Amino acid sequence: MNKKYKLQTAGALLMMLCLLLSACSTAPKLAKASPGTHSAPASDELYLELGGQEGIQAISHRFIKMIAANRHVRARFEKTDIGRFDRMFNEHICFLSGGPCTYTGDTMAKTHGGMNIQSSEFNQMTASLMQAMDAEKVPVTTQNKLLAILARMRPEIIKQ
Ligand code: HEM
Repeated sequence: MNKKYKLQTAGALLMMLCLLLSACSTAPKLAKASPGTHSAPASDELYLELGGQEGIQAISHRFIKMIAANRHVRARFEKTDIGRFDRMFNEHICFLSGGPCTYTGDTMAKTHGGMNIQSSEFNQMTASLMQAMDAEKVPVTTQNKLLAILARMRPEIIKQ
C-alpha cells in the first residue's frame, strides 16, 4: 500500500467517522456566525489552504464536472441554474473556511429539505467533492478539514 493511498484511506475513514457522529472534534474551532448558515472558523487558515478565492473557484468548477459525471446524483441537478449553484457553493465554502465572504444563498435545510435526499446520495456528493479536490491537488489533510465541517450539515440535508 503506497503512502498516498494510505493517506486517502485515512481521509475516507475520518470522513465516515464524521458522518456517523455528525460532528467531528478535529474540525477547526468555530467563531463567526451568520444567519442561515453554519458558523465559520475564527481564522482564515483553511480558506488560505484551499487556495483562497481562486482555489475555491477551481474546486467548485471541478465539483460541478464531477457531479455531472456521477450517475448517482446528476439527475438531481437537471433543473438547477448551475451558474447560481456555482456562485452559492463558492460563497458557502469561502464563508465556512473563514474567508472574506458572506453567504447569500438559502439555508441547507431550506435548499435540500424537500428533496428527500438519501444518506447514500450525501456520500456520493462527498465522493465527488473529494475527487474535485484531488484533481485540484488539495492536500488530503486540508480536504479532511473541509469535509469535517460539511459533515455537520448532514442532518439538515438528508431525509430524517
Ligand atoms: C455537505 C453537502 C452539501 C452542501 C454543502 C451543499 C450546498 C449547496 C448549496 C450552497 C446550494 C445552493 C443553495 C442556493 O441556491 O441558495 C445547493 C443547492 C443544491 N444542492 Fe446541495 N449541498 C450538499 C449536499 C447535497 C446533496 C447530497 C444533494 C443531492 C444529491 C444536493 C443537491 C442540491 C441541488 C439539486 C441543489 C440545487 C437546488 C436548485 O436547483 O435550486 N446537495 N447545495
